[in-house]
Amino acid sequence: MATRQLIDADEYIAKINATENLEHLAHLHVELFSKSGYFKRLLANIADLPIDERKQFAKSVNELKSLLLNVFEVRQENLKNLEIEYKMQQDRLDLSLPVESSGLGALHPLTVVIEQLVAIFGHIGFQVATSNDIETDWFNFTALNVHENHPARQDHDTFYLNKVDEHGKRYLLRTHTSNTQIHAIKQHKQELYEKGYLKIIAPGRTYRNDSDATHSPMFHQLEGLYVAKKSQINIPLLNSILNYFCREFFHIADNNLRLRSSYFPFTAPSYEVDIRCDKRNNQLILGSGDQWLEILGAGVVHPNVLINCELDPDKYAALAFGMGVERLLMLKYGFADLRAFFKADLRWLKAYNLPTHRLPSIGAGVD
Ligand code: DAH
Repeated sequence: MATRQLIDADEYIAKINATENLEHLAHLHVELFSKSGYFKRLLANIADLPIDERKQFAKSVNELKSLLLNVFEVRQENLKNLEIEYKMQQDRLDLSLPVESSGLGALHPLTVVIEQLVAIFGHIGFQVATSNDIETDWFNFTALNVHENHPARQDHDTFYLNKVDEHGKRYLLRTHTSNTQIHAIKQHKQELYEKGYLKIIAPGRTYRNDSDATHSPMFHQLEGLYVAKKSQINIPLLNSILNYFCREFFHIADNNLRLRSSYFPFTAPSYEVDIRCDKRNNQLILGSGDQWLEILGAGVVHPNVLINCELDPDKYAALAFGMGVERLLMLKYGFADLRAFFKADLRWLKAYNLPTHRLPSIGAGVD
């Protein structure tokens, strides 16, 4: 039997608004709007009505339905909010409960070591300089006297971007921190003229298309640059700076370094610097023994580089050195796979007992 009696809108609005929770509201929803609900039943037998009444009837039903649906939605929203508020009250934090410490976060060992390096060189007057990871061909290669056909420029070693600079050369991800030598001299030339010297240390990210246990496509280098009047620049000075660094960083005695002649386009003479070591019983001991391990590259900055920085090579000269930070850490702590640096595995950090300064906090103080 078809019902034609429309329910009283006000009564149902009141009913909907009186629901106390979402479950209660859901029951009402079924009663009114489900497949077997009131509105479906109301329209099911509309064909029984005289034709001239049908249209009007359907219109009234639909108006009532959309009115009640609106009220329903508003009530649903209100009830959800009330439930959230209720939960929040129930879940209120009890600040008097004792806290189980899950350990404080720590700086990444690379960050810690870069800070150590900066402090070590800072003690002898080197100031930090930075430049961008995205670099032009000129700063990364040309200004550093790297020949147009040098293998380092080739696509398979260097990450090139599609965008080109004003000389039509593609931008690239810098392949070393040596680019900062050029930026620093150009930027601090006035300071150099006034003080007669410039001592720069430049830590930073570098990129090469290389990936295995000892190479990562992104790695860190630390560049050093010491520009001074030509008469003051010499190899014993370079040697004493590097000895000082190894004494402080590796805790080894002086005279355990070896400067081996090498080639870099931006230095002449160029050296690869080796540290004395002992590899016995699967252990690496630095500073004693009769074996050598390469730790960095260094040399006297090539006059062409100074000219490219608009510095007179008859008056000024410079020493430079560059080292891989991950490599330094691997040597110091004796581990084999560089990829672990980028895995963020706490067990690894703990196993190697790497330095992880805890962040200072009011509770824990400063390590
Ligand atoms: N840029 C070189 C590299 O990435 C390292 C280097 C060697 C830097 C000699 C220097 C230097 O400043 O004098 O392999």
